[in-house]
Amino acid sequence: MAVDHPDLRGKVAVVTGAARGMGARFAAALARRGANVVGADIDGALMAGTSAAIGLEHRDVPDAGDVAGTTVDVRSRDAQQKLAEFAVERFGKLDLWINNAGIFPEAPAADIPASQMQATLSINVEGVLYGAQAAASVMKPGGAILNMASVAAFRVRRGRVAYCTSKAAVAHLTECLAVEFGDLGIRVNAIAPGLIDTEMTHWIQGDAEALGKALGSIPLHRLGSPEEIVGPLLFLLSDSARYVTGHILTVDGGSRHV
Ligand SMILES: NC(=O)c1ccc[n+]([C@@H]2O[C@H](COP(=O)([O-])OP(=O)(O)OC[C@H]3O[C@@H](n4cnc5c(N)ncnc54)[C@H](O)[C@@H]3O)[C@@H](O)[C@H]2O)c1
Repeated sequence: MAVDHPDLRGKVAVVTGAARGMGARFAAALARRGANVVGADIDGALMAGTSAAIGLEHRDVPDAGDVAGTTVDVRSRDAQQKLAEFAVERFGKLDLWINNAGIFPEAPAADIPASQMQATLSINVEGVLYGAQAAASVMKPGGAILNMASVAAFRVRRGRVAYCTSKAAVAHLTECLAVEFGDLGIRVNAIAPGLIDTEMTHWIQGDAEALGKALGSIPLHRLGSPEEIVGPLLFLLSDSARYVTGHILTVDGGSRHV
């Protein structure tokens, strides 16, 4: 069912991790409503293909914005600063920033390699902090930042200690940033998705036991689609949410409560 969302013509947005999965759908959704978007990913070749595909998808959409693809490694504070400056050079300003890039590693708690813990905290947590810092350095009052947390911030997932820990940190980081960036007139919110069907989670379709268990813990009895995160995302970024900051919006088919 089609849903109307706020017009974003004239806005400029950055989406990290935009080469595939939810990030790609976010970049497309923002551009479809008129925003000019910089999509950035560690996989620059895939990002270029995704930007071109979104351009084709929108060729008949009046007033659709551009999606400029570029490479970034969110672990680097300098690279994220350059990304923010690139958005301003390319489109004249920056209004919206989505810290979406993330990884989802697995290991039993007793055996987590130090390298896995470090990589997860570096990408999923430091990446969000550096993105928010870069965004705030060029945004004007009225800007909005959106972080991707997870229902794993609140619920334990066996074998996913590094991930759960990192997303709990993202949820709290969102609240901390909202308090300090409120002084700048910048809102900071997060979405905590449940199990969403993307390349990150596609493995579950081939594991009947894991899928059955997952579906049993989702009151709506199905996985979510990336499109179902778009509406909540647009709400939190839009003026409809102009008095909402420091909020973590769970979008999980109810799984947080099971
Ligand atoms: N899919 C789910 O069920 C789910 C649930 C809750 C939260 N999330 C979160 O939502 C976000 C998007 O998830 P997805 O399912 O679309 O994932 P995905 O794996 O499909 O896409 C993640 C993207 O991030 C990019 N990336 C990884 N490391 C990077 C780095 N260092 N610098 C820049 N880009 C990097 C990848 O190249 C990829 O394009 C992630 O933060 C994820 O943790 C996903």
